[in-house]
Amino acid sequence: MKKVLFVCLGNICRSPAAEEIMRKLVEDAGLEDSFVLDSAGLIDYHEGEPADGRMRAHAARRGYRLTHLSRPIKYDDFFDFDVIVGMDDRNISKLRAMAPGLEEEQKVVRMTDYCRLKVVDHVPDPYYGGASGFENVLDILEDACAGLLDALRESR
Ligand code: 4NP
Repeated sequence: MKKVLFVCLGNICRSPAAEEIMRKLVEDAGLEDSFVLDSAGLIDYHEGEPADGRMRAHAARRGYRLTHLSRPIKYDDFFDFDVIVGMDDRNISKLRAMAPGLEEEQKVVRMTDYCRLKVVDHVPDPYYGGASGFENVLDILEDACAGLLDALRESR
């Protein structure tokens, strides 16, 4: 069993999309009993809200139904999850700073390190941009989640 938490700033754009893309990949591989997937934000500003309507619309066109409600990351997440996936430098440095200890800090990884097609070092925040930003996020996440799933399968 692998427990994976995807984290971004608001938990309404990037991380809920990553969670659902990963869920689809896990289900397509018949591995739903081997994974627990969730997402969280570094701020609580959008707590309880569904994913951004633009993100839901773009994701829906690719067959992903985003149902997650935003929640802030909590202390226990660092113990409850095996892998904590950040989307950009700010996410990752905040997550590392929040980690209760070294073992938990080492659970923090960078989403784009698992990309095999895209040459990118972060998943850009699409919140203040246009439609192409949301498509770009989905392109990167599809690539990165496929790579992450393969990496986790190999490490079992
Ligand atoms: P996310 O996008 O981190 O991908 O969910 C954002 C959502 C909300 C805000 C920033 C980024 N915000 O500042 O409210």
